Amino acid sequence: MKLTAEQRELDRAAMARCLELAERHRGRTAPNPIVGCVIVDRAGRVIAEGVHEGPGSDHAEIDALKKLGRKAPGCTLYVNLEPCNHHGRTPPCAPVVRDSGVARVVVGIEDPVPGHGGGVQLLRRKGLVVNTGVLRETCERANRPFLMWAERGRPAFTLKAAITLDGKICTISGQSKWITGDHARADVMRLRDGHDAVLVGVGTVLADDPWLTARRAGGRDPQRIVLDGALRTPVDAHLLPKRRGPRTIIACREDASEARERALVATGAEVWRCAKHRNGRIDVQALATRLGDANIQSVLVEGGGEVHAYLLEKRLADELVIYIAPKIVGGPAKSWVGGKGLASIAAAHRYVFDGAPVNLDGDLRITAVRAADRRLPDDPMIDD
Ligand SMILES: NC(=O)c1ccc[n+]([C@@H]2O[C@H](COP(=O)([O-])OP(=O)(O)OC[C@H]3O[C@@H](n4cnc5c(N)ncnc54)[C@H](OP(=O)(O)O)[C@@H]3O)[C@@H](O)[C@H]2O)c1
Repeated sequence: MKLTAEQRELDRAAMARCLELAERHRGRTAPNPIVGCVIVDRAGRVIAEGVHEGPGSDHAEIDALKKLGRKAPGCTLYVNLEPCNHHGRTPPCAPVVRDSGVARVVVGIEDPVPGHGGGVQLLRRKGLVVNTGVLRETCERANRPFLMWAERGRPAFTLKAAITLDGKICTISGQSKWITGDHARADVMRLRDGHDAVLVGVGTVLADDPWLTARRAGGRDPQRIVLDGALRTPVDAHLLPKRRGPRTIIACREDASEARERALVATGAEVWRCAKHRNGRIDVQALATRLGDANIQSVLVEGGGEVHAYLLEKRLADELVIYIAPKIVGGPAKSWVGGKGLASIAAAHRYVFDGAPVNLDGDLRITAVRAADRRLPDDPMIDD
């Protein structure tokens, strides 16, 4: 079917609405993707919308179709991810879409999970018109954590730092509260709310004793992960669950003290013994796979510099969100990326800016994504 320019524009607008609906549940759907659905009648009117709220709840297409008594003859159904064709926690969606009488289905991206796809083929076999790839890049971007997890078995990592104009994360005395203002810090709460987990190094736990919760109305606290080779996290650290807090995973080396493990487990934390690199640091790639196995699809890495350096070096730093305050502290204070540094510009880790900087009441937020995969630099940034 040849689409008019006007129809293509309507398709893009409806798909954008699907993503808007899906976005409301970011951070709440793992191991599932975020998905929204819009149903439009023959006259072009939106007659139902649906959204997937999380594991066990209706998929977006079913949520929307239920509002129409599962019947939508002659309508067009928009959904940002291919309708599934397999039995999981809920029955497959594609047969329900087929039986609803929908005439045309518009899909953002195909489902990459082995055994989950096939919805598009089923619908086409039954004579429905199916168009795929509408707003493809935006749909892929929206479900980057899910796609990363489905394709590589690990979460997507976002490195976050609040820095001064000269790139420091603290002063020469170690002070870091507060580099940025209220608006930027509120934006960090939004980021935490939208990630499955937040990860920090034990250096940050010892220096700042953070809670790592998402303090915002209607917010949901992420799980917390600490890279702590020797289990130096104090038993009264704020990020330990105690009785009611969110899950805390402390990743340590295999040879860490059993007495320290018992003390931390008594506070409600989980201790994960992990393999280590030659330099004694926790093997973050192995940890990433284990986090993927635990259905953690998105991790916000909130420092410090040593942890950021490691994730960059191991090619796990998929996205960067940097808040820049117009302040300068100078001197040898820590930068947001530690390690021993690189000697050549040619070996630099490369990123592409994702959109324009956002002004948050005087501070800037800059987002960048990793440039296409390339050869590992010959002079690594960390001693490994
Ligand atoms: N402005 C900001 O946005 C911001 C955010 C966070 C932190 N900070 C500041 O950053 C400073 C702390 O940063 P930091 O660089 O000293 O410490 P860090 O990165 O928080 O923690 C580093 C420690 O984590 C442990 N670790 C275990 N596995 C690791 C791995 N694979 N890679 C890296 N580290 C691993 C190591 O201790 P073990 O050898 O004992 O395992 C290492 O010494 C503080 O001053 C804090 O205030 C600022």
